[in-house]
Amino acid sequence: METLFIGQEKLKFAVLESTNSYLKEILKTGNPQEGFIVVTDYQTSGRGQFGNSWEAEKGKNLLFSVLLKPRFLNPSRQFLLNMSVCLAVVDSMNEVCPGFLIKWPNDILYNQKKVAGILIEGSMSSDILDHTVVGIGINVNQTDFEQNRKSISIKNILGHSVETEYLMQKVLQKLEMRYLKLKAGNTSGLFRDYYSVMFGREKELPVKIGGTLTTIKPLAVEPGGELLALHQGKTVRFRFKELQFILD
Ligand code: BTN
Repeated sequence: METLFIGQEKLKFAVLESTNSYLKEILKTGNPQEGFIVVTDYQTSGRGQFGNSWEAEKGKNLLFSVLLKPRFLNPSRQFLLNMSVCLAVVDSMNEVCPGFLIKWPNDILYNQKKVAGILIEGSMSSDILDHTVVGIGINVNQTDFEQNRKSISIKNILGHSVETEYLMQKVLQKLEMRYLKLKAGNTSGLFRDYYSVMFGREKELPVKIGGTLTTIKPLAVEPGGELLALHQGKTVRFRFKELQFILD
């Protein structure tokens, strides 16, 4: 495997509640090395952002978590890590089949349908990002999304299966490259790369803000994670929960 540390230590399970929860549990008593990954074929309580659940059929998808220790990253700039993770995922997927985009802050879409999600959970001590658990879920070979018409898989798009292990190795390699760049303080190209695959940038998009339907034009993202967008003639800074995109 062509990485220096990400995925060098690995635990794989047939079933887990959630790879993120498992990794966080291990961290309570042990001290696994940076780059440690936990992979499973099936989660009984897969977790998404904002307390949502993450559902994925048994044995068909990519469900894994990576432990990072980004002590070098000031918490006020932690979105740079989100961007790096999103880019590792979207670039890997675009190598398999082009057309994937990042919906701010960290969903991966194809034709406005969700194909992957990222849940980053951190622990901090005295203002330092101690441990970060990066959870990645990619819909790979599942074709049936009965309960969720807003989801899609790579197999739905390509018409054939893709090996989950092959895709995961790609993601791990790209994540390591992005992470090492960030650690070296090299953020040149990060914003440009993110914008080149950012859903709806500089387009008028329907959104809900505090329950009201309106439109915004996304312009940029900030190191703290805020979205800068044009709204009713003004440039406004939105935080994660402050707006909801309305997809087709
Ligand atoms: C989202 O889009 O809301 C984020 C979904 C993240 C799902 C992944 S699957 C592997 C890891 N373990 C979890 O419980 N969640 C993440």
